[in-house]
Amino acid sequence: MEPIAWDEEKFSVGHPLMDSQHQTIIGIINKLIVLSHGDANKLDLLDIFMEISNYAMNHFDEEEAILSQWGGSILKEQTDSHNQYSEELAKMMIGIDNHNIDDILRFVTHWWVNHILIEDMKYKALFT
Ligand SMILES: [Fe+2]
Repeated sequence: MEPIAWDEEKFSVGHPLMDSQHQTIIGIINKLIVLSHGDANKLDLLDIFMEISNYAMNHFDEEEAILSQWGGSILKEQTDSHNQYSEELAKMMIGIDNHNIDDILRFVTHWWVNHILIEDMKYKALFT
């Protein structure tokens, strides 16, 4: 997998704090992608998976707090999506011996890119 190029025009959801947090997340994913190309040991990779998990939990809380100011289905959709991701990733990490690191990395990478571009993009209109 190749690192993801951050493109403000493509990824911006119209909220500077959310954009900067998304950019940080993509940066951590890129660290994982680069490391996975080499012969990094499992512990180094796990360390970064923990880093992204901790950062993401905080990001989800902040994103949900911001969206809670709006009614409608957007908050529920977001909360459901965030919870599904966290549960799915936790299951994969628990079974880390059965899933190779590349599978987990692919899941994390695809989830974030799709989540930002499809789900988070839905709230762009609220801020622009
Ligand atoms: Fe989100």
